[in-house]
Amino acid sequence: MPKLDANVYVTRAIPQPGIDLLVEACARVGVNPHDRVLARDELLVAVRGRDAVLCLLTDTIDAAVLDAAAGCKVFANCAVGYNNIDVAAATARRIAVTNTPGVLTDATADLTWALLFAAARRIPEGDRYTRAGRFTGWSPMLLLGADISGRTLGIIGAGRIGTAVALRSRGFRMRVLYFDQVQNEALEQAVGAQRVDLDTLLRESDFVSVHVSLDATTRHLIGARELAAMKPTAILLNTSRGPVVDEAALVAALRERRIAGAGLDVFEDEPRLAPGLAELDNAVIPPHLGSATIGTRTRMATLAATNLLAVLRGETPPNLVNPEVLASAPDGIAQE
Ligand code: DGY
Repeated sequence: MPKLDANVYVTRAIPQPGIDLLVEACARVGVNPHDRVLARDELLVAVRGRDAVLCLLTDTIDAAVLDAAAGCKVFANCAVGYNNIDVAAATARRIAVTNTPGVLTDATADLTWALLFAAARRIPEGDRYTRAGRFTGWSPMLLLGADISGRTLGIIGAGRIGTAVALRSRGFRMRVLYFDQVQNEALEQAVGAQRVDLDTLLRESDFVSVHVSLDATTRHLIGARELAAMKPTAILLNTSRGPVVDEAALVAALRERRIAGAGLDVFEDEPRLAPGLAELDNAVIPPHLGSATIGTRTRMATLAATNLLAVLRGETPPNLVNPEVLASAPDGIAQE
């Protein structure tokens, strides 16, 4: 197949199979040569004159960036979340936005459970204890944690990832509650999950796991009031987006032991942490690793590239976030 006469930019190196797809298909492919997020002024220059951009959740793609990329047909985000992109501004400029749903569901659900175990059974704390040379022998009262089997798991947002997390509870005979705008009959049938309001979920769950996407309606969905509604023995898990949880309120709740613990893979102002969070023994805080497996990141990279190439070929990409751009381009997406 002849190469597309297209000038493509990748804002940061991704797994090679994703780059290879682009290089095989396009005449020109530029990749950020640095192992870091591009500074804003660098990004504004880098997107200029491109036909397509493959970007990451750490790139803020706002109106100014979209204007700098005038003539660009697509911003293909290599993530399922796309809160980093001003989709309305992209649509207004007839630029397609795509994401990578599905391929990271299992990895993210697995990591959610890793956080649940780690926080409930105090594994990072125990690991630090042993390495510090403080382990002097088995002790009946050492680092006692929380039971998991038979407890109640509360899922906030029963979409793809929330459902996958809930389904993994089957081996642990757990009661599952969920809060969502829509009923999830499959989940109800699979694990007997019960749809409840948010307050009921917070009040009755031993583990509260957050799986909503970030938008104006979900920012600080979990704040001081919601934390106060949780059991003092409960553990909060967040593998969605940091700003869904009011991190300062959470630090206060954890410090005062108003809840027992938290497992957080995402933070309100990444990579910064709320003051005090890093000092808390009852918080487990990996650095946004939900999708960080070799296989998953490779699938994300190839899916993002596939979406990007579909747009360049005038086809509807598999994961188009703003289908309105189709309506404004009867012969394909933003074809001039
Ligand atoms: C996503 O795809 O939105 C994840 O946060 C990446 O790990």
